[in-house]
Amino acid sequence: MDDQKKKLTTAAGIPYAENENSMTIGPRGPILLQDFILHEKMAHFNRERIPERVVHAKGSGAYGTFTVTHDITKYTRAKIFNTIGKQTKVFLRFSTVGGEKGSADTERDPRGFAIKFYTEEGNWDLVGNNTPVFFVKDPKKFGDFIHTQKRDPYTNCKSATMMWDFWSLNPESLHQVTILMSDRGTPYGYRHMDGFGSHTFSFINADNERYWVKFHFKTQQGIKNFTDEEAGVMRGKAPDFAQHDLLTSIDNGDFPKWSLKIQIMTEEEARNYKFNPFDLTKVWPHADFPLIDVGVLELNENPDNYFAHVEQAAFAPAHVVDGISYSPDKMLQGRLLSYPDAHRYRLGGNYEQIPVNRCPFMVNNYQRDGQMRIDGNHGSSPNYFPNSFDDIVADPAYKEPAWDLRNQVADWYDRNAEGENDHYTQPGNLYRLMSETAKQDLIKNIVNSMSGIDGPKKEIIVNRQLCHWFRADMNLGMAIAQGLNLNLQETMKHMPVQV
Ligand code: HEM
Repeated sequence: MDDQKKKLTTAAGIPYAENENSMTIGPRGPILLQDFILHEKMAHFNRERIPERVVHAKGSGAYGTFTVTHDITKYTRAKIFNTIGKQTKVFLRFSTVGGEKGSADTERDPRGFAIKFYTEEGNWDLVGNNTPVFFVKDPKKFGDFIHTQKRDPYTNCKSATMMWDFWSLNPESLHQVTILMSDRGTPYGYRHMDGFGSHTFSFINADNERYWVKFHFKTQQGIKNFTDEEAGVMRGKAPDFAQHDLLTSIDNGDFPKWSLKIQIMTEEEARNYKFNPFDLTKVWPHADFPLIDVGVLELNENPDNYFAHVEQAAFAPAHVVDGISYSPDKMLQGRLLSYPDAHRYRLGGNYEQIPVNRCPFMVNNYQRDGQMRIDGNHGSSPNYFPNSFDDIVADPAYKEPAWDLRNQVADWYDRNAEGENDHYTQPGNLYRLMSETAKQDLIKNIVNSMSGIDGPKKEIIVNRQLCHWFRADMNLGMAIAQGLNLNLQETMKHMPVQV
């Protein structure tokens, strides 16, 4: 054999003599058990699949850089933002939400926009969507909501009945549903959409003062969407449209970019604002909280292996770094627990050691052992704290200012109680702001989708949802009712809430 060629080996590095024919007794006889290479090949193949993400299973990812262009150090001491011109490596994974790992990229769905910033003070994960709001306000509702976006337990098909039943029973979803049903629900790949941190987060500055913050990533490629028809055609023609579009643009040196902007609210402003600034179904109006420039995010490197980097990427909203922290947004609070739990199930307890997830700067702690421990397990250094042998310490300088919550009563508070139950103003405003074409597309998309509601509860579900559309905007409600060929007089009589 030519010595220049690489030898084919087993996983243990033992060179193979034969890779295509199993060892048999005579050319027509049975296979010998001792051909362990056959077992190894088959056994490894049988274990190739890991569980797909329970949501956001279909996705694409790339590495890139975040560059600071403006000074925001008066709001945050986070080192990532401390100097204009500073660059930080990032990994970004885009995704659809409801479909399986092999589903089509142009489904009507929100899009995930999950960023891992490899900062010198640990990995900061901002796990957002292409929409600034979400369907529900409390994490207890998340699993129920997602079930309605997945397959019906009997038909094993997607079900417009389940979706609209849930949405109509949860009018807090109306804002996000309006965005989803607009052409923003079918973006033209991943490069032509904005990204949002969505939740309210907090910033802490060098004087230990807290500000509330929202993150916005504005696409520099311009917003571009498919119409419902175009998205439908693309589902058949190029189901991996967005993956191909992102990959080829980076391969061709056409690096997609987003401008990072923030909105800032003081603690005092938050206490007095006209609605709950920690409610994920609402946006902060730009007129009250204008966008502030921060920097530019660029994707410029395709991972050399999809599974290694994109499939094994694990993001967690709990992962914030000094100068950036949480808020009392209930959805964010729920997500802090959920993601690392999902990763331990999907990837194993040592998932932070997988190269795409590993902090490239430092990891010092007393966590040891477990399956697939591959980082040397901290060698011979002590595995308990405190000890007299190493000099690893917890640093109180990272402490945040105390939270004055002004309430000490634990209870199950109604998220939609008086004062928290305006589900209609913001979606109505959004509709009224749309161009005439965008309005017509929205109406058409809603009518198409609601036409799929069927079964014995059809009338109740349609009427209940129609009532929400009317309350958002009378003209919108009328247009949808007409599109659904409903007799308005008759429908009004059945409305659970009079409009
Ligand atoms: C209580 C509410 C929520 C819960 C319990 C939840 C739970 C989950 C879980 C379990 C995963 C799969 C993680 C994995 O296996 O890697 C996931 C993925 C994801 N979620 Fe959520 N989620 C919630 C709300 C949200 C919201 C509000 C957003 C956006 C604003 C969001 C954005 C994402 C994204 C982008 C991913 C995919 C991350 C990736 O690319 O790996 N989720 N979520």
